[in-house]
Amino acid sequence: MEVALSSVKLARRVTNIRVSPSTAAAQKARDLKAAGRNIVDLTVGEPDFDTPDSIKNVAIEAIRDGDTKYTPVNGTVALRKAIQQDYATRLGIECALDTICVGGGAKQILFLALTATVEKGDEVIIPAPYWVSYPDMVVANGGTPVILRCGEDTGFKLTPQALADAITPATRWVVLNSPSNPTGVAYTAEELKALGEVLGRHPHVLVLCDEIYDRIWYADFPACSIVSVVPELADRALVVNGVSKSYAMTGWRIGYGAGPKDLIDAINKLQSQSSSCPSSISQAAAAAALTGDQATVTETVEVYRERCERAWERLNAIEGLSCVKPDGAFYLYPNCSGVIGKTTPEGKKIESDLDFVIYLLESAGVATIHGAAYGLEPYFRLSTATSKEILEEGCDRIERACKALR
Ligand SMILES: Cc1ncc(COP(=O)(O)O)c(C=O)c1O
Repeated sequence: MEVALSSVKLARRVTNIRVSPSTAAAQKARDLKAAGRNIVDLTVGEPDFDTPDSIKNVAIEAIRDGDTKYTPVNGTVALRKAIQQDYATRLGIECALDTICVGGGAKQILFLALTATVEKGDEVIIPAPYWVSYPDMVVANGGTPVILRCGEDTGFKLTPQALADAITPATRWVVLNSPSNPTGVAYTAEELKALGEVLGRHPHVLVLCDEIYDRIWYADFPACSIVSVVPELADRALVVNGVSKSYAMTGWRIGYGAGPKDLIDAINKLQSQSSSCPSSISQAAAAAALTGDQATVTETVEVYRERCERAWERLNAIEGLSCVKPDGAFYLYPNCSGVIGKTTPEGKKIESDLDFVIYLLESAGVATIHGAAYGLEPYFRLSTATSKEILEEGCDRIERACKALR
C-alpha cells in the first residue's frame, strides 16, 4: 500500500512553535558528517560520558526483579525520598513527599508546569540569553514570552530593577535558570535575595527555577536556589532538576520538581492523562544515582572544569572574540562582535552571529550555535561536553577561521 502524502491541518499551538534550534544545528552537523565532511561538532548539549555502571546495574536488577510496571503517577516513593533528601542536604529546601513530582525529564516538568498555569494572554518573563525551549514552551501553552535582555554588563543576569520593571498584572511566571544554558553563569545568594525582595512585592508571580546544571559547578560560591535564600517563596516556586546532565543520563528521561501542592497535583493530573508515569526502570536508576556514591559526579565535573577553562582561555586569545567565564554547566558563550563587519576569504561579509556560525561550519568545519537562537546577539554557543582533543581541534579551527577574516 502506498502512503498518501496528506496535508493535515495542524493546531496553531504547534504551527506557532519552532523545532529547537540546537536540535536543528546538531542534526545539520550529523548530516554533514554522514555526507563525509570532517566536522568538529560543538553543538552537543549532553554529557559525552556514559552512565556509570553502578547506576546501570541497578536498572538491570530492576528489570530482573520485575520492577517493570506502572508506578505512581508522581513517581516512586524511593525516588521522591531521594529527591527530598537531596534538596534538603544540598539546598536546605525541606519539602513533603507529596510536593514532589517526577516526569520524563526536566523538560516535561517545565512544560507541564506551564500547561497547568498559563492562560491566553498570561506573560512569562524569560531573561535572555535563554535556553531555547522556554519561549516555545510558553507559546505552545498559549502564553506570551516577555524576553528581558540581560547583557554582559549585568553578567548575563536579571537585575532586580529589570525584573521590577517587567512585572505586570499579567505576569504569571519568571524563569530563573542557574547555572545558565547557554552562558554558564549562576546567581549568587545575594543576587537571588535581591530578586526575591522584588518578588515579595508581587505575590501573583510564580518562579520557575531550572537548576538542571547545579551539580556541574565551578564557581567559588556555593550553588543555591532562590527558595534556599528566600524561603517565603516556597509556596510559589517550582524547583526543577533531573539526572540527565549530572549523571550522564539524558536518555533515561527522568526530571523532577518540588513546589506548592496544588501546582504539583495539577502537574500530576496532566501526567496521569498523558504519559501515566515515567519509566519504572529509569526511576530505579535515578534513585540510585541520587543516593549512591557521588565520586563519579565529582570526577566528571573536574573534567568539565578543565575543558571549560582551557577552551575559555583559548577563545579569549582569539582576536575578535571574548568570553565570560562560566560558573557551571558545560557551555561557553563567546561574544563575536569583533568579527561582525569582516569579510570571509570567499568574499562574504559577516553581518550577524548566524553568518559567523555558518562561516565556521562551511569553511572551518566547526559546528556551533548562533546567539540569536538564545535571544542575545552577537554571540555563539559551544559545548565543552566533548573530548579535550576535539575541543582543541575546534579551537584551532575557530582561531584559523577568525585569522582568515579581513
Ligand atoms: C536549561 C535546561 N533545562 C532543562 C533541560 C532538559 O533536561 P532533561 O533532559 O531533564 O529534560 C535542558 C537540556 O538541555 C537544559 O539545558
